[in-house]
Amino acid sequence: MKFESEVVHAGDRKRTDGRAIPSTTPIHLSTTYFYDSAEKLDRIFGNEEEGFSYSRYASPTNEALEELMTSLERGHGSLATASGMSGVQIAFQAALLDRPHSVLASYSIYGATVGLLDDLLSPYDVEVRYLDFCDLNAVESAIQQKKPGCIFIESISNPLLRVANIEKVAGFARAAGSALIVDNTFATPMLMRPLELGANIVVHSATKYLAGHGDVLGGIVVSDGQHHEAVRRISRIAGPVLGPFESYLTMRGIKTLALRFQRQCENAHLLSEWLRAHPCIERVYYCSDPAHPDARMIQQFFAPGMYGAVLAFEIKGADKAAVLSFMNRLKMIVPATSLGDVHTLLLYPLISSHRNVSPKMRERMGIRENLARIAAGIEAVEDIMSDLDNALRSSC
Ligand SMILES: Cc1ncc(COP(=O)(O)O)c(C=O)c1O
Repeated sequence: MKFESEVVHAGDRKRTDGRAIPSTTPIHLSTTYFYDSAEKLDRIFGNEEEGFSYSRYASPTNEALEELMTSLERGHGSLATASGMSGVQIAFQAALLDRPHSVLASYSIYGATVGLLDDLLSPYDVEVRYLDFCDLNAVESAIQQKKPGCIFIESISNPLLRVANIEKVAGFARAAGSALIVDNTFATPMLMRPLELGANIVVHSATKYLAGHGDVLGGIVVSDGQHHEAVRRISRIAGPVLGPFESYLTMRGIKTLALRFQRQCENAHLLSEWLRAHPCIERVYYCSDPAHPDARMIQQFFAPGMYGAVLAFEIKGADKAAVLSFMNRLKMIVPATSLGDVHTLLLYPLISSHRNVSPKMRERMGIRENLARIAAGIEAVEDIMSDLDNALRSSC
């Protein structure tokens, strides 16, 4: 089945009450389940038989979403989590369960993931190191020497859109016995399937493109056969699972992912070209740029015309106050955090996604005071341009 069909059908129309098959998976709110025989319930509690017992362990609406994401990412199994960050946390715990407690992470990653590593894992004696994952020679020798328990990268990095060679990194990781976790939030399985390239665990903030409408906070962890049981075991105990209503909304969102994301990628590409020619713009970061530092990887892994829907740009001579007043002048674009919604979002990394990253680390990441990030929505691109133009003209 092609991606466009799979998003509509995978995981759905499986449940039946014995009389009819619902055409969309219902929202099952029940927290507990029982059967005609207590012996059956005993076997289900003991994991000897498949079924539902308590919704912290598994539930029918979540299971449908998990089946859909396992299919889209070509994984062995999935877990729907309460947020993207709880998914990232579980992925680290599962990867480090029986490996050395050390992480090698790309420094081009979401600020809260840096926070999770530095503030939550480091105090528990997890050794954390950051590296430029686009420098493959440095990555290979660091992995060979350190043999970290786990390696973490984003398929398209937040916010400067660097693209590492996942296939090569996965090869280095395999040789060193390290687990490779890839945050695939920005690319979605429509652009990239890291598990097919050799990653072990893929995480998503489902809050973004998967749910797609700015009304769900959620995450997904899709694992290979080696890690799925560990992910589920941790979740059975700690229980940061997605609620059934959010699962339903996420699954409903994914049905239009192919349509939305194609339009968002087209809009992002047009905006990047337009911004590059704009007199108030110093520099534009976007994956369709032939001068992108990772252009070779992008050509190799991305389908033509599909370069993701996030772009970043630096406003000429703007300091923090100038960027904030540019945001205040936007009329249609929503000047809020997040990405992946049907409406265009403008985010200022300095005050939101990378606010808690130290100024030194921000500088190393290449995040400057005049950098803004746009997540293109599905609106008419002329309206997005006109809104940006009005707001920019008064700032330069
Ligand atoms: C790349 C990336 N990963 C993970 C997350 C965390 O997701 P959530 O906010 O759903 O916890 C975000 C949030 O912006 C993100 O941009």
